[in-house]
Amino acid sequence: MAEHHLVLIVGGNRGIGLGVTRDFLAQGWDVIATARQPAKAGELRALESSSGGRLTIPQLDMSDPEKVDGFAATLGGKTIDAVLVNAGVSGPAHRSASEVTPEEIGALMFVNAIAPVRLARSLAGHVRSGTGVIAFTSSVMGSVADNSGGHELYRASKAALNSLTRGLWGELSGRKLTLVSLHPGWVRTDMGGKSAAVSVEDSAAGIVSVVQKQSGAHQHRFLDYTGKEIRW
Ligand SMILES: NC(=O)c1ccc[n+]([C@@H]2O[C@H](COP(=O)([O-])OP(=O)(O)OC[C@H]3O[C@@H](n4cnc5c(N)ncnc54)[C@H](OP(=O)(O)O)[C@@H]3O)[C@@H](O)[C@H]2O)c1
Repeated sequence: MAEHHLVLIVGGNRGIGLGVTRDFLAQGWDVIATARQPAKAGELRALESSSGGRLTIPQLDMSDPEKVDGFAATLGGKTIDAVLVNAGVSGPAHRSASEVTPEEIGALMFVNAIAPVRLARSLAGHVRSGTGVIAFTSSVMGSVADNSGGHELYRASKAALNSLTRGLWGELSGRKLTLVSLHPGWVRTDMGGKSAAVSVEDSAAGIVSVVQKQSGAHQHRFLDYTGKEIRW
């Protein structure tokens, strides 16, 4: 992909999303990085100041259906080369299907699975036909084939994300786009914790590389940040 392409990163204010934002900027891309509270997104704001106008930070809360549905219209007709729908939550601390309330599971499923695909569907017409990539930060925990138990609610939310993404892929056939369900590694972020195996820098560099390499592939694959295939 050439320089000065445009990437949209949903949930860019901390963790993996911030790392990916930093990397795309360093590679000369224009970046739209969303935050729930742009005024409080200190590290994104600092990047914005030094970006020479290449970074913008719109507000987007993935738990708000109206914001999700209205977001594409705020792009002002821009064509996007790559999208990374990255925002996600780990769900209630008890992590148990036997304890979860309808409200808790509704909130988890909406943010991790429904809103990402709903947003991507509304963005598809803004993504460059031919080379455009729509990527989702999924997780190996969403793999049904590799499910070793534990974290059952979070796993279910990422499995649902993968399933919905495959459905979207079928729907978009003929548009010459590429979809990627990405496992970022077990990453040292607020969600991954301090003992996680992979740094934000390594995960972000891998994600950026996988997204760029998938450009033009016109397929939907489940890949980790090193490009390795993950079983569905
Ligand atoms: N870390 C890992 O080991 C790991 C492994 C596999 C997959 N993942 C996935 O990778 C993605 C990023 O995780 P991370 O480790 O970087 O987590 P993180 O440090 O906790 O960051 C989560 C990001 O998602 C945003 N977010 C959460 N709820 C949101 C909402 N309702 N609307 C908009 N944005 C929202 C957060 O914004 P706020 O600051 O406003 O909360 C933040 O930018 C997630 O989808 C996660 O499930 C992470």
